[in-house]
Amino acid sequence: MEDRGNERPGTGRITVEGRANERPGTGRIRVEDRGNERPGTGRITVEDRGDERPGTGRITMEDRGNERPGTGRITMEDRGNERPGTGRITVEDRGNERPGTGRVTVEDRGNERPGTGRVTVEDRGNARLETGRIPIEGHAMTTRREPGPRSREIIAREARHIAPGYQSFALYSGLAMARGSGCRLWDEDGNEYIDFIAGIAVGSIGHCHPHYVEALKRQTERLTFGSFTTETRARFLELLGSVTPEGLTRIQLFSGGAEAVEAALRLAKAATKRQEVIGFWGGFHGKTGGVLGLLGSDFKHHQGPFLPGQYSTPYADCYRCPLRLRYPDCGIACAEYVRDVIRFQTAGEIAAIIVEPIQGTAGNVVPPDGFLRAIQSVARDHGALFFADEMITGFGRTGSMWGMDHEGVVPDIMTVGKGVGGGFPLAGVVSTDALVSAKPWSNPSFSSSSYGGNPLASAAGLAALEIILKEDLVANAERVGAIMLAELGRLKEKYRTVGEVRGRGLLLGIELVEDRQSRRPLDKKITLDLYQECLRRGLVSMTYSPTIRINPPLVITEELAREGLAILDEALGVVLRRHGRD
Ligand SMILES: Cc1ncc(COP(=O)(O)O)c(C=O)c1O
Repeated sequence: MEDRGNERPGTGRITVEGRANERPGTGRIRVEDRGNERPGTGRITVEDRGDERPGTGRITMEDRGNERPGTGRITMEDRGNERPGTGRITVEDRGNERPGTGRVTVEDRGNERPGTGRVTVEDRGNARLETGRIPIEGHAMTTRREPGPRSREIIAREARHIAPGYQSFALYSGLAMARGSGCRLWDEDGNEYIDFIAGIAVGSIGHCHPHYVEALKRQTERLTFGSFTTETRARFLELLGSVTPEGLTRIQLFSGGAEAVEAALRLAKAATKRQEVIGFWGGFHGKTGGVLGLLGSDFKHHQGPFLPGQYSTPYADCYRCPLRLRYPDCGIACAEYVRDVIRFQTAGEIAAIIVEPIQGTAGNVVPPDGFLRAIQSVARDHGALFFADEMITGFGRTGSMWGMDHEGVVPDIMTVGKGVGGGFPLAGVVSTDALVSAKPWSNPSFSSSSYGGNPLASAAGLAALEIILKEDLVANAERVGAIMLAELGRLKEKYRTVGEVRGRGLLLGIELVEDRQSRRPLDKKITLDLYQECLRRGLVSMTYSPTIRINPPLVITEELAREGLAILDEALGVVLRRHGRD
């Protein structure tokens, strides 16, 4: 159907009837007038999908630029087995046109009819918002979101059964999420959010990346469980082994971070025939019994006694130096302090020193240059293995493939998790040929688990890594991260409660303080309020704590990063004013 030039597009009702098994383009199209609007403008293309049901073809309507209000591009895509016309519709304005400009998105809700989905309109300057036949809500970024009836109802149902203690960001949100795409989330009431959490640095490739979805679908149809060798796992390990630090090409897979860290600790003990391990204040490695003693936070409180032989020592958290010194005059005294811990507190039989290249849970704390290298020296000097827990920092998050790359140090053992699976529960221990041969770790079934490296996990890991490499997400993390850090610097200039901003790549942190002198953390009542104000404006970010962590998916664009930070800025202004801290 060809454009008729002077008519308005998109106003008729369109029905498509496919012919089951025919070839593309053989569907039948009928356009009906609706009231006083004329039909059939714009260009319409229908592509049949052969074996689908009538009406499941794809329809594209394109405007011709110089038409009257309501022009723009309309795309309607079916969803396989849904009813005709229930696909997604997008209308894009052309900037300087008359009312009806703005960007309109209509999304169906599965089995509903066109136009009954949620509609979002983003105004562009002073253009009016055109509703046409479609109900349209107001400007996306100024629409205030509150947990709606669907979220409230689902949460109430779940609350009757779910045990307390689940992740704070989910708990405090009061939202039930329906779906995600890239760096955006939609809750069950159709509210849209920018995602600065990414499941706490899990979602490296964003939500529902098409390549990832396709790979998992394909694998689900072929083989889903069992730890037999599969082509998928072989390809995944080959690809992973090609990006790990030099010499670290032996990998064992697991389904959770703490499980992988514990397996790595068993490996260190097997390889060195020693039992003692040193961790760091502020460190986090999971919540299972074998790692609790190595945590440097109140996660371990009231859970003792811990495994014997576990010690912890101050990390290079320069904003709140545990040794009350100042970098660089301190000479990174905390690294040297480890030697004293070994000398005075241990039996001198250290199997490993476990360290995060950047401490994630502590608030994305970046140690000064030289700290990691100094820790490696201490380990070497004491015959201990240097164990890097790259669970958060790995796979490009910090703007290089590994957090340790920034100092050019190669650990003896590394653990990976989170971003490696792109959301699928997947973690791993990575080490050298020589170390993984240690007994009993290397005996049949001694380092394995039921789910480790199962076909689905391997497909997820392979797809995620392929995306990270193909889309050069490591470089994106470095570039967008640098822009975000600069923007955070502006927040520090603007608000006296912002005590410090820091980060590397897309692993960023903000310290909110009562005053810059004392560096006392800002009252949590205020930060909980900040979390709600961010949510209302469409941003999910870990702002409920005075130590804010920002770790969006690595696919985030500069534009969306700026949009999210603008929301944070606005929310901070409102909340600080409300609590008299501006
Ligand atoms: C550095 C680090 N190691 C280990 C873990 C534990 O991972 P999981 O929660 O999958 O057990 C985490 C989780 O946040 C982490 O940040």
